[in-house]
Amino acid sequence: MGNILEVKDVAKYFGGVKALDGVSLTVPERGVIGLIGPNGSGKTTLFNVVTGFYVPTRGEVWFRDERIDGLNPNEVYLKGVVRTFQIPRLFSSLTVLENVLLTPPRQEGESVLKAPFTKKWSDQEVSLAKKAVTLLRKFGMGDLINSKVAELSAAHMKMIETIRGLMGDAKLYLLDEPAAGVAYDTAVDLFRFIRKLRDEEGLTFFIIEHRLEVLMDFVDYVYVLHNGKLLAEGKPDEVVQDPKVIEAYLGG
Ligand SMILES: Nc1ncnc2c1ncn2[C@@H]1O[C@H](COP(=O)(O)OP(=O)(O)O)[C@@H](O)[C@H]1O
Ligand SMILES: [Mg+2]
Repeated sequence: MGNILEVKDVAKYFGGVKALDGVSLTVPERGVIGLIGPNGSGKTTLFNVVTGFYVPTRGEVWFRDERIDGLNPNEVYLKGVVRTFQIPRLFSSLTVLENVLLTPPRQEGESVLKAPFTKKWSDQEVSLAKKAVTLLRKFGMGDLINSKVAELSAAHMKMIETIRGLMGDAKLYLLDEPAAGVAYDTAVDLFRFIRKLRDEEGLTFFIIEHRLEVLMDFVDYVYVLHNGKLLAEGKPDEVVQDPKVIEAYLGG
């Protein structure tokens, strides 16, 4: 099988800061691929370039056989690339369910946000709501469905951000630190679920995660960024033993 994503010699400069400095990597179809590196190494910037939030200073981004650098975020999203954010972007005055139902891709008709306030739900809205409830229950948040997001813990907000990302019918999911601030057991459940989505639905995941002890059991392959460049890549057990990688993490 081919690659769903190909990043070719991508650079992104902010003034004198080389956030990315010539990164090339591929994500295979149906992969669960990790992206790690110390703080400030360029991970989130790479996701921003891939999803159209930033135009790269140099280089190309390909989604299957289409070049996508230069497209805007909505155009990239409509191709089937969905991301989540390191800091959850949720509406605190809305409920958990309303937040999860916000803007799934390719919805027919009007915004699903309006659905809770209309008398009659369409079939599509009902099936999306069912999917949302199923996902929330699966992650132990069934009791919180009607809670206001403002009342939740940071860990729950993080989970809801990730679950919202999984609501669509995208092909490639970019998850930015899905397990940050989440209890170990919940993080393991989340990664098991991601593997299941790959195995049963054929989805592809590219995952930034700081918590290596969780990530390493669940990814097929890992890329390591350091100072905007690729420092190492390989199978998780190889990468964690790589002296270059250990030094980068210890040296900061
Ligand atoms: N919008 C921006 N403007 C200026 N500098 C930025 C911007 N975004 C990121 N950077 C810088 O680029 C580098 C990489 O940041 P980032 O991609 O957020 O790293 P990571 O996600 O690996 O922690 C850092 O030095 C950061 O300060
Ligand atoms: Mg980041």
